[in-house]
Amino acid sequence: MGDRTVAEFYDDAGIEWSLRSVGMHLHPGAEDATVELARRAEACGMAAGGRILDVASALGAPARYLARRFGARVVCIDMDRRMHSRAVAVSRREGLANLVQPILARTEHLPLADGSIDAAWSQDALCHMDKEAVLRELARVLRPGAVFAFTDFVAHRGITAADLDRVRQLWAFPSLLTVPGYVAALARLGFEVLLAEDRTATVLATQPRQRIDDDLWWAEFAGRWGEAKAEAQREAGLAWFDIVRGGRGGYAMFIARR
Ligand SMILES: C[S@@+](CC[C@H](N)C(=O)[O-])C[C@H]1O[C@@H](n2cnc3c(N)ncnc32)[C@H](O)[C@@H]1O
Repeated sequence: MGDRTVAEFYDDAGIEWSLRSVGMHLHPGAEDATVELARRAEACGMAAGGRILDVASALGAPARYLARRFGARVVCIDMDRRMHSRAVAVSRREGLANLVQPILARTEHLPLADGSIDAAWSQDALCHMDKEAVLRELARVLRPGAVFAFTDFVAHRGITAADLDRVRQLWAFPSLLTVPGYVAALARLGFEVLLAEDRTATVLATQPRQRIDDDLWWAEFAGRWGEAKAEAQREAGLAWFDIVRGGRGGYAMFIARR
């Protein structure tokens, strides 16, 4: 089986599936996870105003939350055209076009000047990327003293080569770091790590439960996008939860200072 690309994972059907699970905040834990990361980032010195960079901003829901909470301008970088245009449209509709600035680009090559960003943010997206390259770019564009707050899918110690193959094929994760792996990568690039916390239990407690209309929803989904697509989404969900339930993977939160 070939690897799924990020664009294939977040095609129209993939976005519909994600929206049903978590709404416009396209990450585990939905909006509550955004609120919690902002609270922790604030406690670690993320200040009001300035320019915040959202790394892989998708539909822009966390960016709009940050713009409102911190009264900041938020530069949203995402490489996906559909995500980008929806982020533009919703931000306009919500009267935030002056604060939220979506840019279509890859995060491994940020179209931003050295030291031009006051804080950075990312929720559950570095899993799709070349993490070293993105962290290096962040070290370049953040001004000294800037806070970088992020959450991500992580590997636990017992993860197997077969698990990593499955998440590469089904979720378009080229690699997964452990919590100590992220701490080491951040430290190598000169970041001071202020927080590195495994959040697996908390995130699991907020996962959507089975719903009464699940069967109907899947039947309609398969009718719209085809059985193969429905099966691929189901398989991805089950594969990741098998890894998490087995204690071999999970979720973590990090805050670091440049
Ligand atoms: C899970 S979604 C991110 C969710 C978003 N942070 C949120 O919390 O709503 C993953 C996003 O990462 C974007 N992405 C993945 N790899 C990327 C890369 N190398 N450069 C830019 N965007 C990327 C995808 O297009 C997708 O929109």
